[in-house]
Amino acid sequence: MRYLITGGAGFIGSNLCDALIQQGEEVVIIDDLSTGSLDNITHLLDNQNFQYHNNTILNHRVMDHLIRECDAVIHLAAAVGVKYVLENPLSSIETNIRGTEIALELANRYKKRILIASTSEVYGKHTHAPLKEDDNVIYGPPSTMRWSYAAAKLIDEFTALAYHRTKKLQVVIVRCFNTIGPRQTGLYGMVLPRFIQQALRDEPLTVYGDGSQTRTFTYVGDVVEALLRLIHCDAAVGEVVNVGGQEEIPIRELAERTIALTGSKSEIMLVPYSQVYGRDFEDMMRRVPSLEKLERLTGFRPETDLDTMLTKTIEYFRSKSN
Ligand SMILES: NC(=O)c1ccc[n+]([C@@H]2O[C@H](COP(=O)([O-])OP(=O)(O)OC[C@H]3O[C@@H](n4cnc5c(N)ncnc54)[C@H](O)[C@@H]3O)[C@@H](O)[C@H]2O)c1
Repeated sequence: MRYLITGGAGFIGSNLCDALIQQGEEVVIIDDLSTGSLDNITHLLDNQNFQYHNNTILNHRVMDHLIRECDAVIHLAAAVGVKYVLENPLSSIETNIRGTEIALELANRYKKRILIASTSEVYGKHTHAPLKEDDNVIYGPPSTMRWSYAAAKLIDEFTALAYHRTKKLQVVIVRCFNTIGPRQTGLYGMVLPRFIQQALRDEPLTVYGDGSQTRTFTYVGDVVEALLRLIHCDAAVGEVVNVGGQEEIPIRELAERTIALTGSKSEIMLVPYSQVYGRDFEDMMRRVPSLEKLERLTGFRPETDLDTMLTKTIEYFRSKSN
C-alpha cells in the first residue's frame, strides 16, 4: 500500500515513516522543512520504498499528483508549537486551514481515505477531566493569538466532517494530546525537549507560570500505533478520536523528574508567561483525554509509562549531543 504522509520529515511523521517502511509499505512524503528536519529522514532516502518531496502542501499541483498516486493520506503537516504560531500568526493560519482544505479537496477528488491530525488544543480552556470528543470547546478572544491554532484545527475538523457528510469522503480525525519522544525539537515551544536540553547543559529549567498547570504525555511510538490502527478502522470513518496518555503531571514536577533522570545539577526557574509569550497569553491549565473511544474502536490504548518516555527521550538527546 502507498501512503502519502504530509509533514513526514517532522517529529511524529518521521517516526510514522520508520514504522511503515519496516512493515514493507511504500511511503511518499511532502514536507517544506519549516519545523521538520532532513536529519529525521536521511536514513530513509536510499530506501526504494521511500520518496521525499521538498515542497509545501499549499502547492495544489504537486498535491494533486501525490494524492492521485497514493492509496491513503495521513495529513500531519501543520504550523505547530505555541511559540511558532505566535511568531508566525498569518502563515500558520494559512497552512493550517488552506493546507488542510487542499488535502481534503484532493482526497475527495480521487476518493482516497484521509486521516487528519488535529489537537487537544481544540478543547480550549477546560479544566475538567477526562476530555471527551463531544465536549464543548471554550476559547479566549481572537486578540489572544494562541487560540488561532485551536480555532484553525477546529475548522479543519468541521471541513473534514462536512466532506464526509456531503461527499461520503472517508475521513478520520485524530485529536493528539502532548506527544513526546525522539526527534521532537524544543525550538518551537515544546516543553520536554527544552527541559532535557537545559538539564543536559546543567542550566536552569525554565518553568512557565507557577508550574501547577498539568499535562499528560503520550509516547510517539504509541501515537504511531494509534494512527495506523485508526486509518484502517472502518468504524473510525467520520469520527473524531482522542489519542493521548493518562498519567497527569504538573509541569513543575516534570521538570523535577527530568533533573532526576538526567542526573543534572540544574535548578528550576519560574518564568512569568508574559515574559515568554507577551502580555495577552493564556495557558491551558489541564488536559487529560478520555481514551474510551480509541480503545472501543481499535482495542488499543497508549500504555508507555512516563519514566520510560522520559528515559528514551533523554537517551536521544544525549546521543545527539555526542
Ligand atoms: N507533537 C504533539 O504533541 C502534537 C500534539 C497535538 C497535535 N499534533 C499534530 O500532529 C501533527 C504533527 O506534529 P509534530 O509534532 O510532528 O510537529 P512537526 O513540526 O515536527 O511536524 C510538522 C511537519 O509539517 C511540516 N510542514 C509545516 N508546514 C508545511 C507546509 N506548508 N508544507 C509542507 N510541510 C509543512 C513541517 O516542516 C514539519 O516537518 C501536526 O498536525 C500537529 O498539529 C502534534
